[in-house]
Amino acid sequence: MKILFIGDVVGSLGRDMVKEHLPSLKNKYRPDVVIVNGENAAHGKGINEKIYRNFLEWGANVVTLGNHAWDKKEVFEFIDDAAYLVRPANFPEGTPGKGITYYKAGKKELAVINAQGRTFMPPLDDPFRVVEVLVTEAKKRTPFIFVDFHAEATSEKQAMGWFLDGKVSSVVGTHTHVQTADERILPNGTAYISDVGMTGPYDGILGVKREDVIRRFLTSLPVRFEIPDEGRKQLSGVVININKDSGLAQKIERIMINDDHPIFY
Ligand SMILES: [Fe+2]
Ligand SMILES: [Fe+2]
Repeated sequence: MKILFIGDVVGSLGRDMVKEHLPSLKNKYRPDVVIVNGENAAHGKGINEKIYRNFLEWGANVVTLGNHAWDKKEVFEFIDDAAYLVRPANFPEGTPGKGITYYKAGKKELAVINAQGRTFMPPLDDPFRVVEVLVTEAKKRTPFIFVDFHAEATSEKQAMGWFLDGKVSSVVGTHTHVQTADERILPNGTAYISDVGMTGPYDGILGVKREDVIRRFLTSLPVRFEIPDEGRKQLSGVVININKDSGLAQKIERIMINDDHPIFY
């Protein structure tokens, strides 16, 4: 089984990149499942139903979220009916939506889990124990398990990777918006990367207008962050190959598309 994952899609430039490149990426890599992190898809903050549907139309199969999951109030109206939308699993019991979903790719099924870290982030339930329970549940159905761990600290992400090594197909980090070059297959067969990186404005700061971010650093005053809707753009992702019998990973490859890293299809 092959998975294509696209990191945090930010605003209209990010959505444009998904729409523009996903058909060619699918052609090139032939993934069985495409997963997109959409926590910043609606102008940097959250997701709405139209954008969720657009991702599915453009070729994604599952959309994951993160700390921005609730930024668009509309999300509460459709998240329970959105079969392929997952939010961090370690929100308190009773939170709308779900932290795990299953996508059927031919005869195989992939479990997709989303969880959020707690280091330098708002407090939530323990992601390690919550994910462990979900993995045990998923194992009864399928050996193919993908975890999007949305977290700030590389140590917490590495800990999750090693904690799940051999128990899941893949642990990929999201949230920092900067791609890390530490992709690897852990010794027991789990594909790992600390952060996949961001899909959106290439000349901003983490996807935000750079002038706004610089002004905040210079003044220490509150500044309203705007998301560029024009300019250069980038796409960040990974492709993961998984053994069809064991559910363990064989290969993980980074994708980075921007003017400094052009892609040739
Ligand atoms: Fe993000
Ligand atoms: Fe985030």
